[in-house]
Amino acid sequence: TLVTTGELVSAAAAEGRGVAAFNVITLEHAEAIAAGAEQAAAPAILQVSENAVRFHGGRLGPIAAAAAAVARASSAPLALHLDHVVSPALLHAAHDEGFSSVMFDASKLSYDENVKATAEAVRWGHRQGIWVEAELGEVGGKDGGAPLEAHAPGARTDPAEAAAYVAGTGVDALAVAVGSAHAMTERTAALDHELIGRLRDAVPVPLVLHGSSGVPDGELRAALSAGMVKINVGTALNAAFTGEVRAFLDANPGVVDPRKYLVPAREAMAGTVAEFLGLLG
Ligand code: G3H
Ligand code: ZN
Repeated sequence: TLVTTGELVSAAAAEGRGVAAFNVITLEHAEAIAAGAEQAAAPAILQVSENAVRFHGGRLGPIAAAAAAVARASSAPLALHLDHVVSPALLHAAHDEGFSSVMFDASKLSYDENVKATAEAVRWGHRQGIWVEAELGEVGGKDGGAPLEAHAPGARTDPAEAAAYVAGTGVDALAVAVGSAHAMTERTAALDHELIGRLRDAVPVPLVLHGSSGVPDGELRAALSAGMVKINVGTALNAAFTGEVRAFLDANPGVVDPRKYLVPAREAMAGTVAEFLGLLG
């Protein structure tokens, strides 16, 4: 069932649990996320990043249509979200392509420029009924850069600045830097739970954790109890999928039909989705 990100995040926040957002690159990702959500009997958010759109030749339409069709056909409540959007053109395409929400990423700009650009994105989004997430305090490791150390001094969001940012932009949810980093293949991140609690108390909108692939189960549970709501997971799904492809091709070097390795890879990815959803309560 296709639902909206806003309703999933609001319900999770009201009930004190988390909602997971998984990155979709290919059709198989969307199918695996739907299968994992059905296994776990939980809702989930399918998110397509600007990077993934770039992979599809800059065209959002085909992967958006695939993800929307998978969501509609599923028995699990699934929402469509555009992730890490920098380009205004992509932001403006969200509504027409079936997305109910966008993460507008102005984290590369100075604070004042970030507030200005994000406030404008929120004004545009709200006119279309789009829920808008933004980020304050850059989460390390994007764009293929090396992930910052879990306690890198720069990768933290200040609670007072976060409160002012939310008031100045009108965003519906805020991604914060609390110790996670993008693209980690080992689950070794240590989160600043005290900071998460202070951010939850200072910020009137739900908090979002990026780079959750590198966060161990216990840390994730503690982050949820401290007040995190939307949990973004990408790399862990790719690790499960690619690990299965690699093992299958090593064991079966003569195989040419992609379905032979895509079936176990998609199943492994669905298993990882169900595991994360099981943690969120
Ligand atoms: O926005 C997407 C997430 O932050 C995913 O990060 O690939 O490190 O899990 P990850
Ligand atoms: Zn992210």
